[in-house]
Amino acid sequence: MSASWKQLSSQILLLLISCRHINTKTSSPTQPPLAPITPLKTDVRSIVLKGESHTEKMELVNPVNLTLECTWTGNQNKLPNITGYWRKDGEEIQNSRLSVQFHNGQYNIQQVFSIVSEENLGNYSCVFGNEAKISFILEAPQIGEERDKPIISYVGDSAVITCKMDDAKPMPNTWNWYRYNGTEKEQIFVAAEPHHYEIINKERKTRLVVHNLTEADSGLYYCGAVYAIGTTMSHVELKVITFMEPLKPFITIVVEVVVLVAAILLYERSQSKKKATADGTTADQKNMLPQGDDNATEGSSSMRQRKV
Ligand SMILES: *[C@@H]1O[C@H](CO)[C@@H](O)[C@H](O)[C@H]1NC(C)=O
Ligand SMILES: *[C@@H]1O[C@H](CO)[C@@H](O)[C@H](O)[C@H]1NC(C)=O
Ligand SMILES: *[C@@H]1O[C@H](CO)[C@@H](O)[C@H](O)[C@H]1NC(C)=O
Ligand SMILES: *[C@@H]1O[C@H](CO)[C@@H](O)[C@H](O)[C@H]1NC(C)=O
Ligand SMILES: *[C@@H]1O[C@H](CO)[C@@H](O)[C@H](O)[C@H]1NC(C)=O
Repeated sequence: MSASWKQLSSQILLLLISCRHINTKTSSPTQPPLAPITPLKTDVRSIVLKGESHTEKMELVNPVNLTLECTWTGNQNKLPNITGYWRKDGEEIQNSRLSVQFHNGQYNIQQVFSIVSEENLGNYSCVFGNEAKISFILEAPQIGEERDKPIISYVGDSAVITCKMDDAKPMPNTWNWYRYNGTEKEQIFVAAEPHHYEIINKERKTRLVVHNLTEADSGLYYCGAVYAIGTTMSHVELKVITFMEPLKPFITIVVEVVVLVAAILLYERSQSKKKATADGTTADQKNMLPQGDDNATEGSSSMRQRKV
């Protein structure tokens, strides 16, 4: 009896909850929706082509409804119509094929592309028959200067890796840092390793500080400039070495010098010993003829023979 009462009361409770849920749902249209579908900005890029191909670079920062317009005036045959279509990153865009009429001495095609995320960036080409094409390279602002030399730091030190966006380019919303682990770029989260990493962002610059370096910190680091439309990357190599490493060439030189000096000293010593045993003239002669120094008495006897 009491069990069924419990069941009933819990069912009522559920009903009340679901009613409240319905209530909030019905009242929601007055509030703005969570993801506001603000109309995209629109932009148009028109290119007139006389020759066979042209490449146009476009840097985008924000999502946009982009109209790409291609005009081709270079057709020799002046056919009344040709086939036109679009490609993205080398692959034909489905349902983009159409017959383009010859009008006022030119062919014209245009298409609207919704560029809302990183996957929408890339190489868009309009193609006229097999004869002409215009490529639009859409990308987020690129990081100009790439450092090709690695940064070298010592074990136990801190290393500072920097990246910068050109002054002429739009400022990134923020910066991310990644570390290449051999297969993937893993994002660096300072909060996870506060004693090891530090990220300092200032307008168009970012700095990654790696503290308490070990040789395991060597490798490729990527900075990413984050824009609404996507992230662009640049990489820097870090080499962590021990204090002994740069000293190695000096140590080899020092060792070589020590060996050489020791050899010279030994030689000088053996010479002065011989000098002490043999007479002065033969010793001087022998200095000029070192090949005979293994047998001093023989050398001096041959000298005497020659003298005789
Ligand atoms: C952007 O393009 C898409 C698809 O082409 C279209 O549905 C949408 O209405 C466009 N938005 C604006 C603001 O032009
Ligand atoms: C294209 O031109 C050819 C003649 O070259 C004509 O036969 C054909 O009907 C035309 N097609 C269109 C869609 O205008
Ligand atoms: C863009 O695509 C076109 C056609 O697919 C190709 O010919 C061109 O080389 C590409 N350009 C770049 C910069 O990738
Ligand atoms: C690299 O990072 C990825 C993603 O975190 C992980 O799945 C993979 O195992 C890592 N590889 C190595 C070699 O650590
Ligand atoms: C790293 O060095 C800082 C001082 O620069 C020190 O406070 C911290 O404890 C060190 N962390 C580790 C893991 O050795």
